[in-house]
Amino acid sequence: MTDLGFIHRFIPATQPGKPPLLLLHGTGGDENDLVPLAAQLSPGSALLSPRGKVLENGMPRFFRRLAEGVFDLADLKVRTAELADFIAAARKAYGIDAPVAVGFSNGANIAAALLLTRPQLLHGAVLLRAMLPFELEPLPDLAGKPVLLLSGSNDTMISAAGRERLAAVLQAAGAYLVYKVLPTGHNLTQNDLNLAAQWLKEFGLEHLT
Ligand code: MLT
Repeated sequence: MTDLGFIHRFIPATQPGKPPLLLLHGTGGDENDLVPLAAQLSPGSALLSPRGKVLENGMPRFFRRLAEGVFDLADLKVRTAELADFIAAARKAYGIDAPVAVGFSNGANIAAALLLTRPQLLHGAVLLRAMLPFELEPLPDLAGKPVLLLSGSNDTMISAAGRERLAAVLQAAGAYLVYKVLPTGHNLTQNDLNLAAQWLKEFGLEHLT
């Protein structure tokens, strides 16, 4: 589908009481990428999966970067606002609750940007291999917002400083953060999937509006 401002897929829920998931792919992915993963993480959840609009050598992303880990902050700001508007429009069009964002890599970084700038749009977030996308002052009020941050100790794309800073900022903003550094690299492992599935079962439904 190309309406609502983003090429996207929407898959309605097949089980009641499951949190809708907003799927945000990594660099070079698209709206189909995380659908099979989501089916494992939270079977029966409604899935909203947009494709990033920026192309880097033909690879879709959610915002421009100047180099690996160095972001075009002006573009990130505009793209985050666009994605936020898409989520609001999709919630109305499809009649879904605030979703839990599930983002990988570039998708996790824009999910973090959404949490920090438009927190009311998300019920919570699963951030797989994310870093703090920008410093901000004052911090948003994320009181009680459930967030799972899973990082890799040997991740060569996401610096230890970047992920530690994201964890610190989320915690300082009051998020209900579960942060784990797994003995792995940038790619996802079965351990990530097990931890995310368990977390979604426990926290995905809390405080659903
Ligand atoms: C980003 O650009 O968001 C990060 O460097 C991770 C990625 O390459 O997608």
